[in-house]
Amino acid sequence: MEPVQEQATLYDKLGGEFTIRKLVDEFYTRVLGDPDLSPVFEGKDINRLKRHQALFLSQALGGPKEYDGREMEVAHKGLGISDAQFDKVAQHLVDTLADLGVASDNIQQIVALVAPLKSAIVERQPSLYDKLGGEGAIKSVVEGFYQRVLADPLLSPIFEGKDINRLKRHQALFLSQALGGPKEYDGRSMFDAHKDFLISEAQFGAVAGHLVETLRGHEVGQEDIDTVIGAIAPLKTDIVMDHFTRWLKGG
Ligand code: HEM
Ligand code: HEM
Repeated sequence: MEPVQEQATLYDKLGGEFTIRKLVDEFYTRVLGDPDLSPVFEGKDINRLKRHQALFLSQALGGPKEYDGREMEVAHKGLGISDAQFDKVAQHLVDTLADLGVASDNIQQIVALVAPLKSAIVERQPSLYDKLGGEGAIKSVVEGFYQRVLADPLLSPIFEGKDINRLKRHQALFLSQALGGPKEYDGRSMFDAHKDFLISEAQFGAVAGHLVETLRGHEVGQEDIDTVIGAIAPLKTDIVMDHFTRWLKGG
């Protein structure tokens, strides 16, 4: 009968304690040399961190089970780690392993161990909706926005006889959704809502301009304004309309 072969752990295959130490050392050299990551580690006790990482990795790879540090979620909470930062750290780990001559199927196994930790380590970035101040801020933006729009002689005729309160509510839902807030917009498509008015390029530009000015008045920074405009701009093809295009679109 064949002797039962003891399955070698990844820890053993890698070369045990010695390799783990080297791995962690070289991994941190890469991570701390990466300008997208180094700020996260500023002021941290790197030697303590290396020791914890080594224990953690050793345990994850089937070596001695001695990791006594915090849970991944607790250890990384408040660091504001983004998706992209996690991916970079994982890539540095892969590169370090490859440099140490670890076989690619073993690297794949390690990646498979680390990947599921992402959701515990990455922090949800506040949406623009949160940054603006949520529901209250959206209401106030929509209010200010309509005041500007209705005072603009290029635009006010289009809104004559419309139910402005209903419109405000729809705009608020729409904006909230566009900015990453609660997804509740249940109104008509942009094409259906606007097709009757044959809105010109200039009118679209004016409405976008009023939105930008209103956001500026709410102390929204240029970068965030650019994000809002980026969300609104693609709607132009459904909102700016002439008879022919409307006919082509089946409206
Ligand atoms: C890829 C998977 C990762 C693993 C397995 C991992 C593992 C660990 C471990 C074991 C600790 C020590 C916890 C403790 O001392 O209680 C730790 C702390 C830390 N990790 Fe990670 N980590 C990962 C990803 C990341 C990423 C992506 C970043 C940042 C870009 C990061 C930044 C930090 C920092 C700054 C600390 C120190 C926290 C403190 O001392 O307050 N980690 N990590
Ligand atoms: C900048 C991008 C725009 C967005 C995101 C937007 C969004 C909306 C939304 C969500 C509604 C409500 C739809 C519904 O109730 O089913 C609506 C309706 C309306 N929009 Fe816009 N709009 C934009 C541009 C414009 C422009 C440029 C004009 C005119 C110059 C305009 C005039 C109107 C009017 C008059 C209605 C009322 C339609 C009705 O009640 O029959 N919109 N819009």
